[in-house]
Amino acid sequence: MCGIVGYIGNREAYPVVLKGLKRLEYRGYDSAGLALIRDHQLEVFKKQGKVADLEETLVGINMHAHIAIGHTRWATHGEPSDVNAHPHTSPSGKIAIIHNGIIENYLPIKKELIAKGYAFKSETDTEVLLAFIEDIKSHNQCNLEEALRIALRRVVGAYCILLIDQDDPETIIAARKGSPLVIGIGKDEHFLASDASPIIEYTKEVVYVNDYEIAIVKKDELVLKNLGNEKQTPFITQLDLDLAAIEKGGYSHFMLKEIFDQPQTIHDCLRGRLDADTGQITLSGIQEYLDEIINAPRIIIIACGTSWHAGLVAEYIIEELCRIPVEVEYASEFRYRNPIIYKGDVIIAISQSGETADTIVAIEKAKGQGAIILGIVNVVGSTIARISHAGAYTHAGPEIGVASTKAFTGQLAVLMLMALKIGHAKNTIDEEKYILLCKELAKVPDKAAEILLQENSIKAIALKYKSAKDFLYLGRGYNFPIALEGALKLKEISYIHAEGYPAAEMKHGPIALVDEHLPIVFIATNDTFHAKIVSNMQEIKARKGKIISIITDGDEIAAELSDDVIAMPWMDEIFAPILNVIPLQLLAYFIGVENGHDVDKPRNLAKSVTVE
Ligand code: F6R
Repeated sequence: MCGIVGYIGNREAYPVVLKGLKRLEYRGYDSAGLALIRDHQLEVFKKQGKVADLEETLVGINMHAHIAIGHTRWATHGEPSDVNAHPHTSPSGKIAIIHNGIIENYLPIKKELIAKGYAFKSETDTEVLLAFIEDIKSHNQCNLEEALRIALRRVVGAYCILLIDQDDPETIIAARKGSPLVIGIGKDEHFLASDASPIIEYTKEVVYVNDYEIAIVKKDELVLKNLGNEKQTPFITQLDLDLAAIEKGGYSHFMLKEIFDQPQTIHDCLRGRLDADTGQITLSGIQEYLDEIINAPRIIIIACGTSWHAGLVAEYIIEELCRIPVEVEYASEFRYRNPIIYKGDVIIAISQSGETADTIVAIEKAKGQGAIILGIVNVVGSTIARISHAGAYTHAGPEIGVASTKAFTGQLAVLMLMALKIGHAKNTIDEEKYILLCKELAKVPDKAAEILLQENSIKAIALKYKSAKDFLYLGRGYNFPIALEGALKLKEISYIHAEGYPAAEMKHGPIALVDEHLPIVFIATNDTFHAKIVSNMQEIKARKGKIISIITDGDEIAAELSDDVIAMPWMDEIFAPILNVIPLQLLAYFIGVENGHDVDKPRNLAKSVTVE
């Protein structure tokens, strides 16, 4: 949710910041802007639209500077527009700010400032924050760093902010609470960004700034302080990220690349963790808490969006294999309804970005009540990874496409490993079945590759249905969450209304929607419920709905009831969801592309939702 980049050093700052903004555009793309200091003069350029629109307006302008900050916005306060775009400047015009987050108490502060005679150009909370800082600076006759520290003690909300001041062109000042900030350390240069992707090609040495820390960044010096003005020791981490992983690699979209990455990313997730021959599962991240998990009276899974769907799949699997009751909660709801946490409850927090604000506050709530937090996270070093007691990374690599694909299958792979490990340790899976399941799980990457060979036939189905106004996705048991996920993918990138529903519930309401124009996607691979879902298909057929079905190869009964079929390799029902989602990702992708949408940056969305 909003991407921020900053550079100070001997290079030209503009190209570094511009490239960084392009890398961070997945975080928001309503407007973009940057500020630099050229010959002791602060210059600000900003524009509604994408980073490329900003770049176009800057052609021919002298952008020579060694210090710059840039922002790509996902609007919270104030519509997307040139004036609401960041950076914002202070009333004196000397200081520029970029901000990711929300200042919740900006209205009373704004009122106070208006009463003092301040006027505001934009509708943003950010402009108010900067005016507040400058007011403190002039009133207290202090420097910008001190003024910021005083201001932040009064501020409620989340922020990552960068400030530059034309009176001090050798310094970027940054602060963070609740929104991420990484600082890359080069030789006589520093890079600041919301994540490591703008930094990776320049340096592998980074510092993840913590909440309530202020960074005073010069080209050859990085000082970290807390809000009490005490120096903190920067903890330098080595980035384990490959530049190729954040580029498109010949695919037309990141989303397509990431769908096709899945055989490899699932393999990477299982590698070193699953030894199918001996049945050994190594999840060192959770080993320390294994006893607590085995004895947990309850597991609560908290997540948002696609990650929440992974949690729902896990609910079925953990209850089946481990016989531990599982509740799956939307993080945003969990946080605000005074949740009941029993002694011994284990919380699994699932997040691709590791920065989702709702999930972070839900974790903090549960942690405050004594729960053990296991994080299943994709972005290494992210906030959720750091605030969890233990956990496991999904190892899917950077996911740039806004609609989550490979991170979801990575989450499922980790959750499946965890369920097997816990069930085995708890003796709730018999040995023979356990070994069989380990062997089946190891086959998932190859079967995923097999499914991707059907790209063209899935594209043909997409072409046939691309103009439908609505879609219904139906599944049962393990595949019910996959129906939800298939519908979410379609909504996100094609803007077609789609609903996911448990197939049997359909007759209690949504069946009223069925007519000859409604495509209904059945996730109906062979499982315990197969005969039942075939009956549901018959009910749809009788009402002339168009059936697109995901079935196990060779299932003639389901094929006969279907208008279009995507045939899947056989897979044990417990692991079927991880494969069944892949054709649904492709279907959504092709419908989105065929309808002319920017599938990597769907309207109104942002990859990392760092506001509550
Ligand atoms: C959908 C999607 C979102 C995210 C949700 C949670 O394709 O990407 O629904 O799953 O915003 O994000 P993370 O997993 O980063 O916490």
